[in-house]
Amino acid sequence: MLNGKPHFIGGFVLGALVCGSVAVYAGVYVPTTTWIANTLLYSDATDQINVLADIQPNTALIMQEVGLRFNSLDTAGKKQNWDFATYQVEEMTAAFNKLSVTRPSRKAALDAFIAASLPPVTSAIAAQDKAAFKTAMATLATDCTTCHTNSGKGFLPVKAGKSVMPIK
Ligand code: HEC
Repeated sequence: MLNGKPHFIGGFVLGALVCGSVAVYAGVYVPTTTWIANTLLYSDATDQINVLADIQPNTALIMQEVGLRFNSLDTAGKKQNWDFATYQVEEMTAAFNKLSVTRPSRKAALDAFIAASLPPVTSAIAAQDKAAFKTAMATLATDCTTCHTNSGKGFLPVKAGKSVMPIK
């Protein structure tokens, strides 16, 4: 027969999880009726929109996608797989555009980056020019890092590499 100890530990863990989730959610919008998945009980459209807005991927999460695409783009250029490189630029641009919608305060910097920093990469891909691509990618990495520095995140220097994330 079990003594009381495992139950005590289990209760403690469960309690910590419940308190933790309440604490984590405390900074964002709290629905006034009940959880959004229950459409019968939860019909307030404003609540639904606010909850959906709060749970959109944040900058850090979208940037993880951008980081992965940056590394894939770099590898694609080295292997001269230009279709894959084109695809990565398109998907990276889409990720930046999504972030502009969910974080409007970043839109101006993102638009400037898309307009100025990506075209040299796109041109090198169109010309299937490996040397120009290498140069464009180096400038791109510098421009990524510049935005990190301007956003108070200078500890996130971007450098292409084999690891999952390009932060070195
Ligand atoms: C508009 C400014 C801006 C641009 C342009 C930008 N970033 Fe970021 N990035 C950020 C910010 C801000 C963060 C920190 C996340 C936060 O503050 O929530 C970040 C974080 C990151 C992270 C770390 C994510 C994590 O949490 O592990 C990676 C990787 C990253 N960026 C890659 C890139 C790459 C690669 C580029 C260029 C192709 C790029 N970023 C361009 C603003 C930018």
